[in-house]
Amino acid sequence: MISNNEIISASTALQKGECVAFPTETVYGLGADATNDNAVAQIYAIKNRPDFNPLIVHVANIDDAKKYAAFNAAAEKLAKYFWPGELTLVLPRNENCILSLLVSAGLPTVAIRVPNHPLAQALLKESGVPIAAPSANISGRVSPTTAAHVHEELGGKIAHILDGGACDVGLESTVVDVTGDVPVILRPGGITKEQIAQYCALGAYAPTAIASPGMLESHYAPNAALRLDATTVDQSEALLAFGKVTMPTTHIHVRNLSERGDLKEAAANLFRMLRELDKTGAKCIAVMTIPEEGLGVAINDRLKRAAAPRQP
Ligand code: TXA
Ligand code: MG
Repeated sequence: MISNNEIISASTALQKGECVAFPTETVYGLGADATNDNAVAQIYAIKNRPDFNPLIVHVANIDDAKKYAAFNAAAEKLAKYFWPGELTLVLPRNENCILSLLVSAGLPTVAIRVPNHPLAQALLKESGVPIAAPSANISGRVSPTTAAHVHEELGGKIAHILDGGACDVGLESTVVDVTGDVPVILRPGGITKEQIAQYCALGAYAPTAIASPGMLESHYAPNAALRLDATTVDQSEALLAFGKVTMPTTHIHVRNLSERGDLKEAAANLFRMLRELDKTGAKCIAVMTIPEEGLGVAINDRLKRAAAPRQP
């Protein structure tokens, strides 16, 4: 359990412009005071992140969000039903918005989320600052879902890593652009399009000049190559399974995302199992087919990017 003292010292660090890694219900974030340019620049530096990728700002509640950005009717509705939770809204910045322009990477919009994790909420309340936080990994690599993963990725580079155990959801938030008349999903995530469509009509995603890191071709990648839709597995490969496994798997490393074929369980296990199989030293991870429905859409999105040709 995290002590109140740890929350207080992490909050003090944030207020001083330092970076703090903290758990959310989706993945661990690398946080900094979103109103402090230097602090936000630190995030980009620590992650090695291309600077055209904007960041998500975490706030305690919708009233805090409204200090920085404008909500139309659809945004209000989605915030009402899904906050706190794994939904990020891309909103127009208010004219007097005090958030660093760096979090928007030059765009007139800002991505905001109210996390539903007691430690994230405690940190927001204690520090009193909005927290810019991408996933706490080196840019392009697998997102961390435990504090140990954060140590593997960024240990030595940051002074504070709050340990809140394993993340419940295990996949990043769903990013929805609500700046226009019709909301558009920019990145599939923990909340499915079916869930969102219960509350408002959704427009189709049209790729624009807006770079979303979730939209970069290669992302979420382990060291090993990935081979998707595997129905067989080679001796030199490791296997990331889903559901019942009928192919022979003696002598190879296997992780099963969900033996009972449950997509929620699979999402929660995805990044951890990719890391575990990567550590076996296998050159390639064969991945069984995941159904393209519900949370499977976000899981397949991450897998496709992890399998994409790597950037130099
Ligand atoms: O679950 C999550 O969302 C985690 C936890 C820590 O909250 N955070 C996360 O942040 O995944 P990050 O930086 O890895 O992903 C931010 C996503 C990217 O796809 C980015 O392009 C998009 O949000 N984004 C941020 N600001 C945007 C903006 N103004 N316009 C369009 N997309 C934006
Ligand atoms: Mg990320």
